[in-house]
Amino acid sequence: MSSPSRGNDFFTPMRFEAEVLDCEVEGSLPAALQGTFFRSCADRRFSPLYSDDTPYNSDGAVDQFRFYDGHVDYRSRYVRTERFLAERKAHRALFGRYRNRSTSDPSVRDLSHSTANTTPIVHAGMLFSLKEEGLPVRVDPDTLDTLGEWDFSGRVTATSFTAHPKLDPHTGELIAFSYEAKGDCSDDLAVYVIDKYGAVTNEIWFKAPVVSSMHDMAITDRHVILPTTGMVTSAEQLQRGALHWAYDPEVPAHVAIVPRNGTAKDVRWFHGTADQAMLVHTTNAWSEGNKVVLEAPVAAENFHSYFPRVDGKPNDPARYIPTMRRWTFDLDSDSDRWQEEILFGGMTVTSFTRIDDRYVGRKNRYSFMMMSDPSLPVNRDFADTLAVRVSNAWYRFDHLTGGIDKFSPGDSHGVSEMQFVPRSPTAPEGDGYLIGVVNDFRALRSELVVVDAMDLAAGALARVKLPFRLHMQVHGWWVPRAVLPFEPR
Ligand SMILES: [Fe+2]
Repeated sequence: MSSPSRGNDFFTPMRFEAEVLDCEVEGSLPAALQGTFFRSCADRRFSPLYSDDTPYNSDGAVDQFRFYDGHVDYRSRYVRTERFLAERKAHRALFGRYRNRSTSDPSVRDLSHSTANTTPIVHAGMLFSLKEEGLPVRVDPDTLDTLGEWDFSGRVTATSFTAHPKLDPHTGELIAFSYEAKGDCSDDLAVYVIDKYGAVTNEIWFKAPVVSSMHDMAITDRHVILPTTGMVTSAEQLQRGALHWAYDPEVPAHVAIVPRNGTAKDVRWFHGTADQAMLVHTTNAWSEGNKVVLEAPVAAENFHSYFPRVDGKPNDPARYIPTMRRWTFDLDSDSDRWQEEILFGGMTVTSFTRIDDRYVGRKNRYSFMMMSDPSLPVNRDFADTLAVRVSNAWYRFDHLTGGIDKFSPGDSHGVSEMQFVPRSPTAPEGDGYLIGVVNDFRALRSELVVVDAMDLAAGALARVKLPFRLHMQVHGWWVPRAVLPFEPR
């Protein structure tokens, strides 16, 4: 067995659970910040069975930052998945390579392999920790105790559930999907429309043209958009003990446009090229008449360094930096192609992109993105880490003017994905705060920073300073206190 440790830095597993009441705050927290910021984190509790496994296979933990009246309390707990409990009992790793059951210890092959480590969402008063490999895992939003897998009262029969469902801010509906929906390597897709009370109101099953990683989706007020990618799998690949995904540069992009209230016969597939098949996260989508517009960072080649190419060649760094693209699908046209426009590129765009979530499914003006920006002050001792392994800045893009605003938390700091919090429920788009965890590689401590979302260059308004380093974050989710009430402990 090899150690998961890669030196004394933020990538070394922490294996902790913690609670900090009244976190130290530098600066002053805006009065408008009343609510909970949840984070899904990935942190291995035991050395992996295989040294070539991916960090995506790390145990899931949920962090809770509660903001109230200028104060912040912090709590973190691992998600007690079937996997966590089995390995806790054995006091060692039992689960094998990323999403490959045949490489796991025979005693656990029939258990859920989900780590629940990707996205925390709150819907219908319930907190879920999501991982696209399995069903949502319910977590108590107050105690963070694990309540178990949730299949929406038996209505979700797919074996998995996306980590990136979309919450329609206008209807309160949760729109979700499943790929490999009948198990490993199945070409089945399922779309679920779930009302604001948590009841499934529509379910659409259909087939994908390729079995590929479909990590994210988008919605408009009428449609669901599902892109396929060039990250593929097969029974042969799994039988030989490989990681679940390998990148095939010959596989083109396909996009399904699905009416939210339609049936399988209403699904339209559009077909693109192989250099459009690395779309991991979407930014947003909206309808313009009978056209569907999707915006997303898209790369011409695999940027997941952990997953190999099927031809064994190295990834080409000249092709794997994404550009922000706008794809337009004309539903009035008989063509099965889409129009592509490059909105911006030529810089180190990542696939971590967010918007003011009140504009999900409607045309947005601003987007926010994690970036690696060598023009910002970078301490040379941490330059390689900040350029290659993490990002060092948050950007705001103005899609109307092309303007860019950027935030650097410090010259030895890496950033996690940011979250936009509106100043008030009726504030204009972008009027509010960006919050998120940044990691100081010099001090080996984490901070949660608060920035004016319309003036990133002004720097942090407040820094919530943790007395230790936190688990590495995947995605986060903000819930206003009015939506998810709590009383300070
Ligand atoms: Fe993601």
